[in-house]
Order: sequence, then C-alpha cells, then structure tokens
Amino acid sequence: MSQTVVISGAGLWTPEHIVTNEELVESYNAYAQAHNARHADAIDAGEVEALPQSSTEFIEKASGIKQRYAYVKDGILDIERMRPRLPRRADDELSHQAQIALAAAQAALDAAHASADDIDMVIVSCAYTERSYPAIAIEVQHALGIEGSGFDMLVACSAATFALQRAHDAIAAGSSKGVLVINPELTSPQVNYKDRDSHFIFGDVGTAVVLQPKDRVRSPHAYEVLGLKAVTVYSNNIRSNFGYLSYVDDSDPYANDKLFHQNGRKVFKEVCPMAADHLKAQVEQVGATVDGVKRWWLHQANLNMNQLIVRRLLGRDASNDEAPTVLDEFANTASAGSIIAFCRHHEDLVRGDLGVICSFGAGYSIGSLVVRKL
Ligand SMILES: CC(C)(COP(=O)(O)OP(=O)(O)OC[C@H]1O[C@@H](n2cnc3c(N)ncnc32)[C@H](O)[C@@H]1OP(=O)(O)O)[C@@H](O)C(=O)NCCC(=O)NCCS
Repeated sequence: MSQTVVISGAGLWTPEHIVTNEELVESYNAYAQAHNARHADAIDAGEVEALPQSSTEFIEKASGIKQRYAYVKDGILDIERMRPRLPRRADDELSHQAQIALAAAQAALDAAHASADDIDMVIVSCAYTERSYPAIAIEVQHALGIEGSGFDMLVACSAATFALQRAHDAIAAGSSKGVLVINPELTSPQVNYKDRDSHFIFGDVGTAVVLQPKDRVRSPHAYEVLGLKAVTVYSNNIRSNFGYLSYVDDSDPYANDKLFHQNGRKVFKEVCPMAADHLKAQVEQVGATVDGVKRWWLHQANLNMNQLIVRRLLGRDASNDEAPTVLDEFANTASAGSIIAFCRHHEDLVRGDLGVICSFGAGYSIGSLVVRKL
C-alpha cells in the first residue's frame, strides 16, 4: 500500500562568518596584482597569462550575489593562501560536515515536532563529502541515536531534491517510517579563490528536511508531496576532477581542475530552458497549472537564471513573494539553495496552497517536488 508522504519540517544552519563581495574582490585583486608583478617577465614574453581584475559591480550584476557565509573565514582572504584553513580533526572527533549536518538536522527535527524515534533513515546528500567512509550520514545517525540506516549521496547541486525523492519513495513503499535528509554544503574548500570567473560563486550552509508518512505528522507546517521527478543529462560544463585516482594517476591533487570550474555561459543557456520545461511538465503532471502555484522555491545559483526561468514559465516576472531569492545573502550553496528558500518562506502559506521545490546544476541534473500545504 502506498503511503502519503509529507515534508513535516525543514531546518537551516547558517555559519557565523560572512565574506562580502568587497572583501573577496579586494583580496583577489591584491592576489592578481602580486601574481602579475611576480611573473612580469614571463607575462611580457607571453609565457604566463596576466590575471585580470575582478569587480563587485560585475559580480552583483552577473549573479545577484552580495555576500556568502563561510564555515571558516580564516585563510580565504589571505593572498598567500586563498583557501580556508580548516583545523584537522582526529578520527575520534566529530567531523566538520557531521557538525554542520547535526545543527541543521536538529533544527529540522524541532520544526517537525519530531525526535530520533520518528526517524529510521538518514541521508546526507550534498556536492562533496569530506571522506569516503564511514558515511557522514552514519556518523550523524550515531550522534542523534537513530536506529536504522544511513548513507551518503553525491549529486552536486541536485543532491537535496534527489535525496528527497529517495526518502519519499522509501516512505511511500512502507520501508521507512521517517527520513532525515541533510545537506551539509561545505563548499568553500572546493572554490578556486584565485579564479576571477568563479571566486564569488559559493557559500557554506547546512539544511535538513524531515519526511514522514501523513499519519505520523505532528508539525503545524506540513506539506504533502504530490509529485516529484529527478532527471539527468550528461554534461561536462560544470566539473570537478577531485577524486581518489589522483593518488595513482600522478596528477596534482590540488590542480585547478580538481576545484569547481564551469563554462558558465553554456550552463546558463542550456539549463534555463531545461529547468523551465521540466517545471511546467511537473506541475501539469499533478493536474495543476503554473499559475496555480503559490510559491517557487527555486535553486539559488544565479538571479538572472531564475528570472529567465520564471519568465519562460509564467510569461511574466515573478514577485519575490512568488519566487523568493536567498542567493543575495547566501550565494550558491550547491544543493541547499532551494531548501534555504523553503526554510525561510513557507510558514505563511495556507492549507491547500501549492509550492514547488526545484534544483538544477552539475550533471546536468534537475530535481523537483510539487507540494501542497496540509
Ligand atoms: C558564471 C556567471 C555568473 C558569469 O556571468 P556571464 O554574464 O555569463 O559572464 P561571462 O563569464 O560571459 O563574462 C562576461 C565578461 O565579464 C568578465 N568577468 C568574468 N568574471 C569577472 C569578474 N569576477 N569581475 C569582472 N569581470 C569578470 C569575463 O571575463 C567576460 O569578459 P569579456 O566579455 O571581455 O570576455 C554566469 O554565466 C552564470 O551564473 N552561469 C550559470 C552557471 C551557474 O550558476 N553554475 C553554478 C552551478 S549550478
């Protein structure tokens, strides 16, 4: 028998450190100037490329991002380092990502009026995990005292929505009584802060969602999942070659190709129509129309992208109430963006209101859930 599945709570953990565009650009520009001065002869000889300057005006206009949060700020702005300095933790200490995950998970459990006893599956799903095994999810499961199972999933920017689908299917099939989906998006270690094209894109955050069968829900803000879909289409336009093979293929484990890199223009052009078409089909599949959707909790990578998608979808611009923006404050937080938007902007909906959670990104991958407030 198929169970009706409900999102009963969502939680957000925000790091205490902020990095503004101004700080980031000042540090990158100082780095670029020092690089160019150090390699002046080689640049003149055409052997080394001069690094161009970045600008806050470009960043805000091209992306809508004004600032981002950092789990650790120390090191990011240091032009001799250009990456966060994370203290190494011993094997018997709580890992960094488990710490982030626990904070978000507790907030989600509180919002759901649920406890460890209501959960029997923990999915940690994000763009990167800090180790291969044991799974971060099992560490979190252990720390929360949850009986059942846990596993990690990597689907880049669609990690959250794809994991929500796994959670939904487990509950619908009756094999789980409650699932905690957690997205500890510790993105700053994979940012190339020496690259003008991408140094501004990402921020750190933790989000979590509790899903339960309808008959177990105690939350005042619960959303029945009406439909959901996960789609992938192979593309190399967003890529990180970081992986365990660099130990044996003799490549530099810290080379630029091991960090986030993309062909942003192509991503923009190719993903926007895919996302708009996907969303329309999803909404229609549950017997609704796009005009009947009260709120769009969209992926938060780029403001212009979201505006284009919404225009294609609705034939007009959407208000911030219809499609809330959080990327100005958080930047791109990989899979967590649409969940942050949901966390911040769902309690005002009333019984019967429809909403859509949607992510898109590397893979390419697109995931969406159509939900209705109970
Ligand atoms: C990345 C992105 C913001 C760049 O915006 P864009 O308008 O496409 O900008 P472009 O990369 O074409 O660059 C435009 C110009 O600004 C320059 N530029 C790039 N970064 C700059 C910076 N930080 N400061 C100043 N100028 C910059 C470029 O070199 C280019 O100069 P040119 O015209 O002389 O060649 C945008 O393509 C994007 O968001 N794409 C979606 C991809 C995405 O979000 N991916 C995340 C994973 S889901």
